Amino acid sequence: EKGGFETFMLKEIHEQADAVAETIADRTVRTDGVDLAEEASFDEALLHGVRRIIVVACGTSFHAGLIGRYAIEEWARVPVELEVASEYRYRNPIVGEGDLVIGITQSGETADTLAAMRLARERGATVLAITNVMGSQATRDADGVLYTRAGLEIGVAATKTFICQVAVMYLLGLRLAELRGTLDVATRTRLMTELKRVPHEIDALLSGLDLEAIARQHYQREFFLYLGRHVGLPVAMEGALKLKEISYIPTDAYAAGEMKHGPIALLDESTPVVCIATDSPLLDKVVSNVQEVRARGAHVIAIASEGNIEIGEHAEQVIRIPAMDWMLQPLLAVIPLQLLAYRIARLRGLNVDQPRNLAKTVTVE
Ligand code: F6R
Repeated sequence: EKGGFETFMLKEIHEQADAVAETIADRTVRTDGVDLAEEASFDEALLHGVRRIIVVACGTSFHAGLIGRYAIEEWARVPVELEVASEYRYRNPIVGEGDLVIGITQSGETADTLAAMRLARERGATVLAITNVMGSQATRDADGVLYTRAGLEIGVAATKTFICQVAVMYLLGLRLAELRGTLDVATRTRLMTELKRVPHEIDALLSGLDLEAIARQHYQREFFLYLGRHVGLPVAMEGALKLKEISYIPTDAYAAGEMKHGPIALLDESTPVVCIATDSPLLDKVVSNVQEVRARGAHVIAIASEGNIEIGEHAEQVIRIPAMDWMLQPLLAVIPLQLLAYRIARLRGLNVDQPRNLAKTVTVE
């Protein structure tokens, strides 16, 4: 059942190209825009008149929401707020008509996310669920459902479901942009072409990715720092979560620009710092942050696109991802981080499919 892979997690990492392809397939038939209107579980009228979007989620699903925020705000110019569900539900939140509350939950059963969705719905908000499980509770607590089509995920650490959640957020962003007239046809068409290329690029990336040497060099470290900016920040957060949950190594993820406000004090020669240096208008600033880290003697592992030559002068190790529209690069950049966490946990002799203290579905708050 592991299809020749040593663990479910590794199998699921390798299923990501297919999972994204399934998730976007019949939603990206048109060349210049996304179609969601045909879906039985989703009435597009839910998107009309939306003034604000609030995403409620936990853990990895929260990170998918964070990535979606950058894309939706940039493309569709709708303000997006992100809320950890366990906090939101107890905050007496100001929410109601005109708000679209999106609960992102792979299992569709996470107690805190469900409670946050119900609360928002009671107060008059429109509630949308993004989930991987048909018939799950989230599908009943929402006005509409957009499914990720990742297939069953068995490894406790979310991998292919995360990538598909991000893909659905991009689809939603593109659809909203079209409805609101905030992106011209040429830009939409270019983004659609890029998005459809993602499964192919994931395969290309996975087939050439060998992180064994980097993992061997660092698997006994006591701490890892992850840095990113803009859409690279949630990628850093997700990388840090993957490593801590399956390898039990303490990690922290920070907005690179916040580093000098505290976390830089953590760095010494033994600290691996994973920098998300993917393409973006902020790349220069990320490179200066990399230089600051290097000046403290820390060891920089950068994730960068193939076109980025300069980064090689500043990082000890560069893990390359295929070049692609910068807003979409998280779909590729997270993959080396999943695999790095995986290799490190295996070298430490751990059960990656079932890390201690964790459950796949968290039905208690
Ligand atoms: C981490 C992980 C968890 C889940 C979280 C939410 O790898 O899997 O952080 O993302 O428990 O679960 P769902 O998405 O089912 O609501």
